Amino acid sequence: MKKYLRLLSLIVAAVTLALSLTACGEVEQADTGISKAVELYGTDYEYTLEELPEMKKAMFSFMPQAPSLYEAFQDYFYVGGCINPGNYESGKGEDFTSMMRQFNTFVLENASKPEPMHPSEDKYNFDTVDQFVEFGEEYGVRLRGHTLLWHAQCPEWFFYESGTSGDFASPEKVLKRIDEHVTTIVKRYKGKIDVWDVVNEVFNDDGTLRNSKWLQTVGDYDGDGDSYDYIEQAFISAAKADPDVRLIINDYNLEWSYAKTQGVFDIVKSMLEDGIKVDGVGLQMHIGYDTNIETLRKNLEILAGLREYNPDFKIEVTEMDMSCFKWGDDSKTVELTDSFMAQYNKTYVDAFKLFMEYAEMGILDSVTFWGINDDHTWLNSDGRINHPFLIGSSNRLKETYWEVISLALE
Ligand code: GLA
Repeated sequence: MKKYLRLLSLIVAAVTLALSLTACGEVEQADTGISKAVELYGTDYEYTLEELPEMKKAMFSFMPQAPSLYEAFQDYFYVGGCINPGNYESGKGEDFTSMMRQFNTFVLENASKPEPMHPSEDKYNFDTVDQFVEFGEEYGVRLRGHTLLWHAQCPEWFFYESGTSGDFASPEKVLKRIDEHVTTIVKRYKGKIDVWDVVNEVFNDDGTLRNSKWLQTVGDYDGDGDSYDYIEQAFISAAKADPDVRLIINDYNLEWSYAKTQGVFDIVKSMLEDGIKVDGVGLQMHIGYDTNIETLRKNLEILAGLREYNPDFKIEVTEMDMSCFKWGDDSKTVELTDSFMAQYNKTYVDAFKLFMEYAEMGILDSVTFWGINDDHTWLNSDGRINHPFLIGSSNRLKETYWEVISLALE
């Protein structure tokens, strides 16, 4: 019955839209049905397994019958995509329809990183992030800010006494710069950006701290025996600038490295014990199709232990993609044979089953992909063609997509 009501509402909306476009004399194909198609999906739609064959008639994510990942998983977690300004600036085409249908949380690929946002001490670039926030407000989606501090895509002026070389600045000066940088950005987007990756990739794979210029310049400034004072400063300044924003420590290889996961656990535990607000850990989840999901489970178990120190502590999946190549393999293309796809799909399905389990325990609250479809991914560098998402090139709905979304259908 639901299916027919939905079909009816589609027809009504299409006719209404066609009439209104004719009335305005506008016949542009690009506008037809696109934003309306997005509006057609309420936030409480429940899909059923019975409807699956009908939904599968949608070969592409922008087609009206296509379901929505975020709606299907709404009882579990947010589902998100990493985007660039072009995704919401350049008219409402198929990519836009697809991403608004599938995702309810978004993050910018580059524009909110330290280098683009704060290239020199007295210069901030806010325009792109301001527009991202306007887009978020217009569509009522959850926004992730990525990232306040990182060793990469970070301007050198932060670390030097003057200019971008020469003597390192004093720890006081670097801490003051961190405070000013974090406070300015977080305050500006207070109540608009919902969650910030406060620091990104501050650990080595063995659980020790990365020897970044942040660590080298600030070190153990307060003399309490630990050398992550710059991380503490960033979290303290962010919490002060917006007490309601969620603050995340984000890193890679937490999917398999036990030592790194333990390193994150130890430092976050100690920060929480010192009364510093840390709301969660972000697992980037740049994984391969051969990932061992049981190892991932063990690491989630470790991180879930942080709830003892902050009962609302969450795990977020922040940059998910699944490479079709094993680590160390430098081939450019991969043959998507049935047996390869069976393993690829199984890893995705097993990962999502695990995410659902942790969501049901109230621990995992979002899964964001580092892209919106296979057409654009950082994994396609040097002529390589990878296929890392559930949604393929041109927004084709892969079999992987159907297997994963089926997990949430009853
Ligand atoms: C890391 C960063 C992201 C992005 C990817 C590669 O995971 O956190 O911001 O740069 O690398 O694109």
